[in-house]
Amino acid sequence: MPASILSSDLTGPVLVTGGGGFIGSNLLLTLAARHPELTFVNLDALTYAVVPATVDELARSIPNYVFERADIVDEAAVRAVVERHRPQLVLHLAAESHVDRSILEPRRFLETNVMGTFNLLTACRDLWAGDPGVRFHHVSTDEVYGSLGDEGYFTETTPYSPRSPYSASKASSDHLVRAFHETYALPVTITNCSNNYGPRQHPEKLLPLMIHNAMARKPLPVYGDGLNVRDWLYVTDHVEAIWQVALRGRVGETYNVGGDAERTNLDVLKALLDAVSERTGDDREELERLVAFVKDRPGHDRRYAIDATKLKTELGWRPTRSLEDGLRETVDWYVSNPGWVASARENGYDAWVQKQYVTEGRS
Ligand code: NAD
Ligand code: TYD
Repeated sequence: MPASILSSDLTGPVLVTGGGGFIGSNLLLTLAARHPELTFVNLDALTYAVVPATVDELARSIPNYVFERADIVDEAAVRAVVERHRPQLVLHLAAESHVDRSILEPRRFLETNVMGTFNLLTACRDLWAGDPGVRFHHVSTDEVYGSLGDEGYFTETTPYSPRSPYSASKASSDHLVRAFHETYALPVTITNCSNNYGPRQHPEKLLPLMIHNAMARKPLPVYGDGLNVRDWLYVTDHVEAIWQVALRGRVGETYNVGGDAERTNLDVLKALLDAVSERTGDDREELERLVAFVKDRPGHDRRYAIDATKLKTELGWRPTRSLEDGLRETVDWYVSNPGWVASARENGYDAWVQKQYVTEGRS
């Protein structure tokens, strides 16, 4: 089995799952622009998480693009797509991704994230039948490691300790991917990444929610005391890490990915409001008055922090932006793309925010 496949050796189709979502769409747009010679197949169920304007953009912008609408929970459908396109590389991103939803509706997380991953693994194992020139890359999260105190970082050897239905389902999927490598010699790699931000993110997630609400002068709901810490990474830096690990990472290995940008939620919100005010001319103090402390998320992990030394030393990857620059670019993208923002709203995001508040007893 070769230690890595170089992108020049990659000739077969690349199958991306979840390509209509936030990271998947940024990945497809970035990689297709760089590799117009490759065919990209997007297998996606188009769940609530996909903004229709993103689907249109993908179809418009990618030269060799094939869209396959399918649910990864449907074993026969997954097998049919895999057999039809015979991918050389699979980048598996499809997942239920929002922690708050996993608290309210955990079953779907287990179905998609665990059984969906299992279906994809078995279909690839059967298609590839020991071929060494192929790769299955699994995109996962730092949340599988649990919650840190004030000190320390997650490394690739930190024991798994997931604490939400979302992170438990992602942890299960990581274990399955490793098991398929050990048991069936499936050539796999895994990345576990910190919180992403950037263009085309569903407005249920912290930063786009705050941008949308700030621009609409709606309350900015901060869970608990706002002192939970996350590490933030600009989405295209994550895309680059996925691509480098998938092509050049050691088979069977896991690589942590992080932005060296740890902030409390309140600090990241303040930096975001600076960027909004700078871009729109809105009064900074007026924006800050919108901050509303609300009931905390149950089991809210206190701190995530990533040690990405392995990825940096083995593959030379680095985050390319400071958080402040990344936030300026992000705000600029949302302000410059009102059509996408309208599409996200029409897709029912306000209804979800409403539902979440009602269900959790906030007013
Ligand atoms: P997202 O919610 O924006 O997109 C998820 C995509 O998966 C959508 O296109 C959706 O339609 C698709 N999908 C969901 N269920 C499906 C099913 N049953 N069958 C087929 N397609 C289905 O998520 P994202 O933020 O782009 O995250 C992508 C991946 O990266 C996930 O695996 C997530 O766990 C992981 N990840 C995300 C972050 C982050 O900060 N967003 C950080 C680390 C890892
Ligand atoms: P989120 O974007 O949901 O990502 P994750 O929980 O996977 O890290 O949330 C990021 C942080 O922001 C997390 O600590 C929860 C917090 N948060 C709020 O304070 N208010 C909100 O409205 C949301 C969605 C999140």
